Amino acid sequence: MLVIGAAAAVVVAASLAFTRGGGGGKSSANTQTKAQKAQRQDAKEKAEKRRKEAAARVQRKLEAKADLAAARYAEIGLPLYCGGTRKNVVALTFDDGPSQYTESDLLPVLGARHARATFFILGRHISNYPNAILKEVKHGALGDHTWNHSSLPGLNRFALKAELGDTQRELQRAIGKPIRLFRPPYGAHDATVDEQIKAYGMLQVLWSIDSHDWKGLSATAMINRVLASVKPGSIVLMHDIHSNTMEALPTLVRALHHRGFRLVTIPEMLVLAPPTMRQLSLGAAGCE
Ligand code: NI
Repeated sequence: MLVIGAAAAVVVAASLAFTRGGGGGKSSANTQTKAQKAQRQDAKEKAEKRRKEAAARVQRKLEAKADLAAARYAEIGLPLYCGGTRKNVVALTFDDGPSQYTESDLLPVLGARHARATFFILGRHISNYPNAILKEVKHGALGDHTWNHSSLPGLNRFALKAELGDTQRELQRAIGKPIRLFRPPYGAHDATVDEQIKAYGMLQVLWSIDSHDWKGLSATAMINRVLASVKPGSIVLMHDIHSNTMEALPTLVRALHHRGFRLVTIPEMLVLAPPTMRQLSLGAAGCE
């Protein structure tokens, strides 16, 4: 580009020097070239601005639809393990945060690669990481992951309210938006838990791929594990509290993009690649 630009400048300068003659034309030619360059730069910036505005409009529309879709699926009351397979979309999910890694590692990697994700927040972390939570809203969707990471089966309604309901309420207060997603710790749930999640207007989100980051897998082993089974509609379980996860993330995101996957939030997946009723009723088996 630089070479072509320089060559063009010489041609313009030469032609102007020819028509006007003398040394005075040279500085005028320089001024014109500069003006043309500035004009081209200006046009480029305007086109870029228009492109960004159009993309933001499309994203806002998708998010509005996605909110409604999450509420609709929450009413059905069946847990979600994966999306449909019609579109090349994958949902990365990060549990148990925010942590010291969220703002410094996780969000910058997602932002730099235009990847969106879903964050399942622990209620007891909300007041410790108010900024991280507000930034997460810009990078994706937030969900409830209980207050204390308790295993829920066997708990009575009062205990479930303290885990599910209190976290939902505090999260909604923190971000000023309804919380429609819930993930039970350890993926453990029973009929009472399912009923309570539905009563709170939340969709229970499980996963189709466990990255095993919580088992202390190396970054490479984790990336290989996810890439070995990822397909359209996959929901990937990860945690933003482990350094191995942060180490794996840039390469994993790049590899998924390279395979043509778009990284979306769970509600966005419900719009772009909705699971069928048959898939939902089959549970985890509906993702095989
Ligand atoms: Ni967890």
